[in-house]
Amino acid sequence: MDKLIAPSILSADFGNLERDCKIINDSDADWFHIDIMDGVFVPNISFGMPVLKSIKSIAKKPLDVHLMIVEPNRYIKKFAKLNSHVLTVHLEACTHLHRTIQEIKNEGMKAGVALNPHTPVSNLEGIINEIDLVCLMSVNPGFGGQSFIETTYNKIKELKKVILSNKASTKIEVDGGVTDKNAEELIKAGADILVAGSFVFKSKNPRETIKSLKKIAN
Ligand code: DX5
Ligand code: ZN
Repeated sequence: MDKLIAPSILSADFGNLERDCKIINDSDADWFHIDIMDGVFVPNISFGMPVLKSIKSIAKKPLDVHLMIVEPNRYIKKFAKLNSHVLTVHLEACTHLHRTIQEIKNEGMKAGVALNPHTPVSNLEGIINEIDLVCLMSVNPGFGGQSFIETTYNKIKELKKVILSNKASTKIEVDGGVTDKNAEELIKAGADILVAGSFVFKSKNPRETIKSLKKIAN
């Protein structure tokens, strides 16, 4: 499979959201990465349904929705209605992860599970075949623009082993601190999808930056 680039809207200019969404539309990016934060699971609040609705009306690429919220089950149907392609919940926020994954898939979405930097990959051993995507957090979730945590490389390799030994087709996404400096090594370690927020939107030419990441990744 082609390695995918998913720019994170969190680092876009919200005063020019339409312009920044169109940049993603017209670029080599594959997905829109959408960070939803509730101020409880993480110490920050991002945006909610009305903003996502606007993004949806402009976006011409699949929406990769990353929920950093408690009780994500309460919102599964709403995110399905908003045309989410992937709906990712945090393992740390789910008491009944298996049930949550089934509910996401029953609504016609791909099911993603995100792991905080401290959460071992071994937690997914019994359930990996049910999961379409694992999002490995390479920063502590809550904010864009943080430094990449180097232990992520080993986590990717461990996760890849779990996927292969279970003959699963789960994709590995890496989220946080991704730049042109670590993209190649992340792909080499086994990543399939790279999320990049500030590296894309704080650059002079986001479209070119996406192009360069896509080139490094493939
Ligand atoms: C962090 C979010 C990330 C964030 C990445 O909690 O999940 O998706 O937007 O931003 P950068 O690439 O700036 O680390
Ligand atoms: Zn994210």
